[in-house]
Amino acid sequence: MAILITGGAGFIGSAFVHSWFMHSDEPAVTLDLLTYAGNADNFTDLPASAAHTFVHGDIGDHALVSRVLAEYQPRAIVHLAAETHVDRSIKDAEAFLQTNVVGTGRLLAAVTTYWRTLSAERQQRFRFLHVSTDEVFGSLAAEELPFSESSPYRPSSPYAASKAGSDHVVSAWHVTHGLPVLTTHCSNNYGPRQFPEKLIPLCIARATANESIPVYGSGMQIRDWLHVYDHCAALRLVLERGAVGRSYAIGGSGERTNIELVRTLCNILDHERPRSSGTSHQELINFVADRPGHDARYAIDSSRIRHELGWAPTFELVDGLKDAVRWYLNNGPWLERVRSGEYRTWVRSHYGQ
Ligand code: NAD
Ligand code: TYD
Repeated sequence: MAILITGGAGFIGSAFVHSWFMHSDEPAVTLDLLTYAGNADNFTDLPASAAHTFVHGDIGDHALVSRVLAEYQPRAIVHLAAETHVDRSIKDAEAFLQTNVVGTGRLLAAVTTYWRTLSAERQQRFRFLHVSTDEVFGSLAAEELPFSESSPYRPSSPYAASKAGSDHVVSAWHVTHGLPVLTTHCSNNYGPRQFPEKLIPLCIARATANESIPVYGSGMQIRDWLHVYDHCAALRLVLERGAVGRSYAIGGSGERTNIELVRTLCNILDHERPRSSGTSHQELINFVADRPGHDARYAIDSSRIRHELGWAPTFELVDGLKDAVRWYLNNGPWLERVRSGEYRTWVRSHYGQ
């Protein structure tokens, strides 16, 4: 038995790999292209006992995926591989459409062919868990109820549109081919090993380097923050006990405006790593031009996963943020290697140009 994790070298993927081996000794195989967001350093602190195999490659490479499936015979796929940064999708959407839509379609085609070779019992137990986002539902007004599984699709950014496309492709494979799929829609994650282009690690990295902290527009946009290990616990639950064909909304009930969140991070940093000047990191906050099409608010109603699967987040937001800040402060070399681009030399030294 084994599971296959796509995108396992990224932020949530690597947290999932770590959390998997905290709870299981079942082998896990990571398939990851190691784009700029994938980082082989994310596996260096796995326990020696972890039965983890890394395969370098593209989810859209049908021949490679077919070989991996035939060799490792996974009982489940946890599909996290994606292009994920909204700002990059605004500059150039091509990789988003290729990986998130076309890549997911190709992955499904290879997985379905493999799934059909399994015994009836293994076919029935097989799961394809598609990790999607709340961003497919678009933006909420202040008075609107939080997103739930029945919210209409209204993606705003090219990233969200490409994830919405992948959701529909996954759903079609279930309806048409009977592939046992599950889909999750999670809110913004934070925690260790997040690429420092996203708000929280960007803020920590820049503040500790005494660089300005860019806040888009008014800073009044709202996100619902969830610690990545709470997300991983939800994914493990959905994988083991979720109803086939069903989707699950996952959120932290941690709604904050961006400016509140950034101020909280600055206060934590003031305590954990005071500036030599004795002044607050808040001095570094710099309001910059807004993101085009910026979604005003995300919030999640997690009632289904709470009631049907008994999931609940364990991190209170401020404690979780302290935990995350400490991780980045204690892992300076990780951050340094990412910021300098050094982490990518592993790909060159291991695979050549
Ligand atoms: P990430 O950008 O940190 O990691 C993505 C990983 O996918 C990287 O390791 C990258 O190398 C890999 N990858 C990209 N293209 C690939 C391809 N063609 N083939 C194989 N691997 C490829 O992303 P993340 O934040 O860890 O997000 C993981 C998943 O969770 C995504 O599907 C994302 O949409 C979803 N999600 C993220 C959040 C969040 O707050 N970060 C919230 C909800 C859902
Ligand atoms: P981000 O981490 O990119 O996640 P997402 O866009 O998927 O929600 O951004 C979180 C929020 O922070 C979002 O409202 C945009 C804002 N933001 C800034 O204000 N400044 C920044 O430099 C970044 C990257 C994001």
